[in-house]
Amino acid sequence: MTGQVLEHNFLGEMPASCERLAYVRMLTTPDDPGSATAETPMLSLEAGRYTLFQGLATQCLATGRERILTFRWRSPPRTGHICLELKLMHSRNGAVPLLSTELNITEPVTSRSVRLMESAYLRNPWFYLPSEGIHWSPSGARYPLFVREAKAARFYDAEARAYLDYTCGWGACFLGYAEPRIAQAVADSLSRRALSGLPQDIEIELTERLCSLFPGAEMALFGKNGSDVTTAAVRMAREFSGRPLILYGGYHGWHDWNRPDEAQAVPFAPGNIKMLAELFARYRGQVAAVILEPAAWVGGVEGPVPDADPAFLHDAGKLCRRENALLIFDEIFTGFRYRKGSVQRALDIRPDLTCLGKALGAGFPISALLGSRRIFTAVMGKIRYDPTYKGEPHAFAAALESIRIHETEKPYVEVWNFGNKLMEGINALCRRHNIAARMEGLPIRMVLRFAHPPDDAAHGPLIRTFLQQQLLQRGLVGFRGFLMPTAAHSQEDLTETLRIFDESLKALRQADLEHTLVRQLELPLIL
Ligand SMILES: Cc1ncc(COP(=O)(O)O)c(C=O)c1O
Repeated sequence: MTGQVLEHNFLGEMPASCERLAYVRMLTTPDDPGSATAETPMLSLEAGRYTLFQGLATQCLATGRERILTFRWRSPPRTGHICLELKLMHSRNGAVPLLSTELNITEPVTSRSVRLMESAYLRNPWFYLPSEGIHWSPSGARYPLFVREAKAARFYDAEARAYLDYTCGWGACFLGYAEPRIAQAVADSLSRRALSGLPQDIEIELTERLCSLFPGAEMALFGKNGSDVTTAAVRMAREFSGRPLILYGGYHGWHDWNRPDEAQAVPFAPGNIKMLAELFARYRGQVAAVILEPAAWVGGVEGPVPDADPAFLHDAGKLCRRENALLIFDEIFTGFRYRKGSVQRALDIRPDLTCLGKALGAGFPISALLGSRRIFTAVMGKIRYDPTYKGEPHAFAAALESIRIHETEKPYVEVWNFGNKLMEGINALCRRHNIAARMEGLPIRMVLRFAHPPDDAAHGPLIRTFLQQQLLQRGLVGFRGFLMPTAAHSQEDLTETLRIFDESLKALRQADLEHTLVRQLELPLIL
């Protein structure tokens, strides 16, 4: 393969010993004209005696002969001018020079965040960092790395810089970070209670409360994470029905039962009744349960994030009853957040089992499985479910207070209003900046969907990542472009969010028009 660099982001200056993500846009020509054009090239980046990167590009977006390549590299430890040499290694001719450019290396950046990041990448790297560890930008902006404090809709990093956050504890902190009434309820519990072997009165209070809120729920079981109770639900359904197969629609957690290679769990697209009926027909007599996210499941990086489809949910219920399979609603995301507080309440549908988590504990670890006495008692003692912390009382205290707030103040009403205004505001800004994009999803979980040129596979990831970079640089944090408003997001936060989007979309439009996206990108592509 031979190549010609069209654009890159090795520009100007950067600090010593600093991680950056290289972006290279190049034209490639295979040695053998018949070979695949999507092959990932092997590259080497050198500066004098330092080899700064060598290997396959981490990401490779190909459109015809053009590729956009990214890889991480680290600047040399010494300050001063260097000459960077980029070479193509994967070639009959050995290393072929692609690019030679001057760079000024300045004093290293030191901060608590940077030190923590070095240690984390060495010892504990499994977390979401929207900048994926890249902290320095030639623009002078910093990316958030570690959270030191969080309050309402903001968190503060190790250097006390504030960020407006739309991830909010993966949606668990629906009332906002450090909500004072929740904090007080937990503080009271901490001073009086502790984990015990016997159950506590507060667990039964919470059970009664939940059963009174969810029609058809007569019994409850608690866990710490959503995955605990989706797994318990699956175990119950298998034991109850004596059948092995689970049909699932949406994301239900990390446990092994729904691994992509697990033969006894088959995915389907929620909303697609034809597909569900076909699966029932194909696996006649084997289906123990259908578990699904009744609304707001995420289809991909630009959605869809569909609303609940009442006809589909009713028909899915009928199919389950006809086939003697259980219907499990995974309301871990929608619980206490959807209209009327849950999809089942909003649409008056009674699933056999209901999974709750996230907003239930307002940021404290608790999940719940609710269902009928008929199902619970049939499997009790037959399935194993005895985690040490299932009866931990402080999370029960948080959940009781959270439910009290939900029932008296109905915070979802305000959140839906806020989310609608946010979506309308961003759509108006897209129109103003002549950007072909629209907010997709629901006011509680949304993402910007761009219209892409059909012949350019790289355009979507480039503009999506560029927007995320612009938002982060201005102090707005989402999850791979998704925004999840909470009850703590105020009118001032809405104004600030729209201001940040205004500036970011303007920068996006300009970079797209001037074809400088690749030159300015610093973060890994959102694919
Ligand atoms: C709908 C749904 N189900 C299950 C889970 C898993 O919950 P957890 O991460 O608390 O185990 C999630 C988490 O995002 C979820 O959104």
